[in-house]
Amino acid sequence: MSPQPRSAVGAPLSRVDGRLKVTGKALYAAEHANDGTVHAVIVDASVGRGRITSLDTRDAEAHPGVLRVIHHRNAPELPYRDNAGSNNPPGRRLRVFQDDRVRFHGQPVAVVIATTLEAAQHGARLVEVGYDAERPSTDLHEATPGTPTAYARGDAEAGLRDAAVRLDLTYRTARNHHNPMEPHATIARWDGGRLTVWDKTQWVVGTQTELAAVFGLEMDAVRVISPFVGGGFGSALRCWPHVVVAALAARETKRPVKLVLSRKQMYLGTGFRPSYEYRLRLGSDRRGRLAAAVHEMDAETSSYETFTEAVLAAGQMLYSMPHVRQAYRTVPLDLPTPLYMRGPGFQTASFVIESAMDELADRLGVDPIELRRRNEPSEDESNGLPFSTRRLRECYTTGAREFGWHRRARRPRSRREGDWLIGMGMAAGVYDTARMPAQARARLEADGTASVEAAATDMGPGTYTSQTQVAADALGLTMRTVTFRLGDSLFPPTPPHGGSMTMASVGSAVLDACDKLRRQAVRLAVEDEQSPLYDVPADDVVVRNGRLHVRGNPARGETYQRLLARNNRTRLEADGSFAPPSGPERHSFYGYNATFAEVAVDATLGLVRVRRMLGVYDAGRIISPKLADSQAIGGMVGGIGTALLEHTVTDHRDGRIVNAGLADYLVPVNADVSDLEAIYLNGEDPEADPLGVKGLGELVMIGVAPAIANAVFNATGRRVRELPITAEALL
Ligand code: MOS
Repeated sequence: MSPQPRSAVGAPLSRVDGRLKVTGKALYAAEHANDGTVHAVIVDASVGRGRITSLDTRDAEAHPGVLRVIHHRNAPELPYRDNAGSNNPPGRRLRVFQDDRVRFHGQPVAVVIATTLEAAQHGARLVEVGYDAERPSTDLHEATPGTPTAYARGDAEAGLRDAAVRLDLTYRTARNHHNPMEPHATIARWDGGRLTVWDKTQWVVGTQTELAAVFGLEMDAVRVISPFVGGGFGSALRCWPHVVVAALAARETKRPVKLVLSRKQMYLGTGFRPSYEYRLRLGSDRRGRLAAAVHEMDAETSSYETFTEAVLAAGQMLYSMPHVRQAYRTVPLDLPTPLYMRGPGFQTASFVIESAMDELADRLGVDPIELRRRNEPSEDESNGLPFSTRRLRECYTTGAREFGWHRRARRPRSRREGDWLIGMGMAAGVYDTARMPAQARARLEADGTASVEAAATDMGPGTYTSQTQVAADALGLTMRTVTFRLGDSLFPPTPPHGGSMTMASVGSAVLDACDKLRRQAVRLAVEDEQSPLYDVPADDVVVRNGRLHVRGNPARGETYQRLLARNNRTRLEADGSFAPPSGPERHSFYGYNATFAEVAVDATLGLVRVRRMLGVYDAGRIISPKLADSQAIGGMVGGIGTALLEHTVTDHRDGRIVNAGLADYLVPVNADVSDLEAIYLNGEDPEADPLGVKGLGELVMIGVAPAIANAVFNATGRRVRELPITAEALL
């Protein structure tokens, strides 16, 4: 970090944009006003696979207010240039209205544009589409997998054969949907050949790149604006077909077009966490020292793109063992393409590995924490690199102490309170510390205020606030005199707001820009004969509350305003950047947690109640403890959903999602969430990035589902290897 005194970083500050949000002044994608905006509503395919054989749009077009119906028979051909740069997985992305094929139930087959939302909605109902339908393939467990991605070290089969203790376990995880509060929405406007979109996106640069590719435009002909995002969880990391539909509709009607997905459509076109079948075989000695693991996993993808996520890493590096073999197969299905969902890959792997570790501990009669300690590696065994920081042992110690782990009954089903069986469980969590190149620009104005810009996004973690904290300290200004601007592709480019990399990447670019800006001002002062700081070594000057002064001698100095005014400068500016060191990594970067859960299970009804949870996090420096707590609690709530409630159900006869809505797709409500606590190991990771952060947003969800599953076992003696854990499974 910079030599500046730190007062904002590390302080539990409230959100700088909190007031805007609670007063409704924060504008989300669909709320931006454009004169003459018309409304678009997508018509979804009502079969799961096949061809469109007829399209009757006459009634829709005759409906008052309807301006146009666009579909594959009248849509212009779109360039759809190749673009691997916007989180598009390998394959051939869905090209809206470019052919008559239906690839999944709910695929956009037409769009109705009307002067009012009601007219567009009604018009969409009036479009008659005929299909030549086939039975779709939507069942992961019935379909044929593709070629595996493989990993091996040692001889896993031999290691298993020779192991004194062997487990062979198969797990199934449900498909989960992101369900952010704000639906996906786009407003598109063309000004001649230039396209502006207000979009719900976690990556304005990614959406800009994709729209340029789809419409065959130069990058600078597309501007993407997204100042506020009401939750994403990964669903807004791609520029989905509906964004293209909005832009196409605007181009065809020559009007600004607003398109808001319905809650149901949020299950059709904005990704999901794929369902897995995951077989894990583990071998250890009698003391629980792991010898070998074989991971075989099948995961859903679409028929047209091969989506993969980081499901392999944890099995290679979380525990020490000589022999590992992994095979990760994607299974093409007649579904839309999945996408990253909070803690992608690691979350699924952690449920399997951490549940299996608990089974092994039970089999051996060893405490689950002790078993994990016995398998703690001294380096990353997948690549031989030292860990930048790995404080998992401390997570265990702190967590066990603070949670009261000693009160856990050693024997399952031995603690009871009335009808309720009580149990405790824990799990380790790991998530990689991603960093990508980012840029930022900082400006100091003559009035002593500053602004910082980056194309970043804030889907809820509090990017506005945390980046302002970094900037305020580096510039020596108060929080109130610094404004951070984000969410515009005209600002300096940043990586996706996902993978928990925003603080490390954008934050480090902001730090760099502000450090440079402050040094510029300091140089101006120490070289200025009129300045009280004239001839002071630049390194001895610090800035506090907008005043430059000699370190340790606050009396000798002057304000930014005086300095700029005397030098006839209206402003100072600096560009900053961050990039991870080039060449091969010299460390292995991960964040860690130990997550603890106590559950009560109704002995007759099988209901599971999470009574309390604790997460202990080794996430590097915590920029804002208050925002971090929001992340941790939200992550635990998400994990409770995955563990006990969330399950997207498909009718395999026609590929229809049965529970596409918040009435039927269950998520935790307040009554499901009681006592959640987070503890952060105080520290920093200086190898990871200049801020010393390791990322928190994903890490906090990982470990929650297995901790709950293990607590359910401790309570009931029942081992459930399928998520979500339902009452039926416990009867
Ligand atoms: Mo997160 S799945 O990277 O938005």
